[in-house]
Amino acid sequence: MGLGVNMSRIVYVNGEYVSEESAVISVFDRGFLMADAVYEVTSVLDGKLLEFDGHLKRLKRSLSELDMQEPDAINDLLEIHRTLVRDNQVDQGGVYLQVTRGVADRDFIYPENVKSTLVMFTQSKDILGSKLVEKGMKVISIDDLRWGRRDIKTVQLLYPSMGKMMAKSAKCDDAWMVEDGYVTEGTSNNAYIIKNGKIITRAKSFAILHGITRTSVLRFAKEAQMELEERNFSISEAIDADEAFITSASSFVTPVINIDGQNISDGSPGPMTQRLREIYLDESIKTAI
Ligand code: PDD
Repeated sequence: MGLGVNMSRIVYVNGEYVSEESAVISVFDRGFLMADAVYEVTSVLDGKLLEFDGHLKRLKRSLSELDMQEPDAINDLLEIHRTLVRDNQVDQGGVYLQVTRGVADRDFIYPENVKSTLVMFTQSKDILGSKLVEKGMKVISIDDLRWGRRDIKTVQLLYPSMGKMMAKSAKCDDAWMVEDGYVTEGTSNNAYIIKNGKIITRAKSFAILHGITRTSVLRFAKEAQMELEERNFSISEAIDADEAFITSASSFVTPVINIDGQNISDGSPGPMTQRLREIYLDESIKTAI
């Protein structure tokens, strides 16, 4: 499975740069056996990394919350990201990074003195030109059946995958998850509505991933004198909103125009959402490295 243009990627596995065909990890790796692993996805535009510091900081927090050892290469991560982007000629796309607790005989108890596994690879993708930016996304609502520590970016992505499949069968683009009557987040993004000029999004807690894009978008919105409120909202409030959107590293700011078959306003992307996307892209490109 190469990049599609007859090009085999160079990937990084525990200190080595190897071709994707020859990259291997152990069948005893706890990432494979127990989903005992965390990850980050950093976007690349013009061959540069967006929000690298934010992703590194969240990675360290995820590791620490799980008492997982930092990989030996923790201080070389920027250089490894850049090498992979350069050697795989990534102009637009992302770098995926995963740390697992390492290799040990299968046991629920965390092994001691085991080195963590570090795997990284690139994906070339047209992340700027998504059709959904112009069209807007249609989402369905589903129960949030994930575990209770969604603030830790673990690789337990089966329920989010199921959610995307449910959305796909409903001819929609994603699912917004609902818990106790309120939206938590999208399957791989944070969720927002706008009502009477005010941006509303759920506050940070164990219930959602603390998106790096979320933090920046809220900061830029504040700097642009936009009104913000961090609080829960329901699906019916969202359908009744003026605009809705999502944020994530790979989608930046993308409009949501329909929920469970019901249009939001006139069912086209809203002006504040478009403005936020422009601001986010302008500002984050400035600090890309
Ligand atoms: N997903 N919420 C969830 C559940 C996510 O998986 C993500 C990111 C976000 C947005 O976080 P950030 O702004 O830091 O990308 C929110 C990534 C992109 C993924 O799994 O591919």
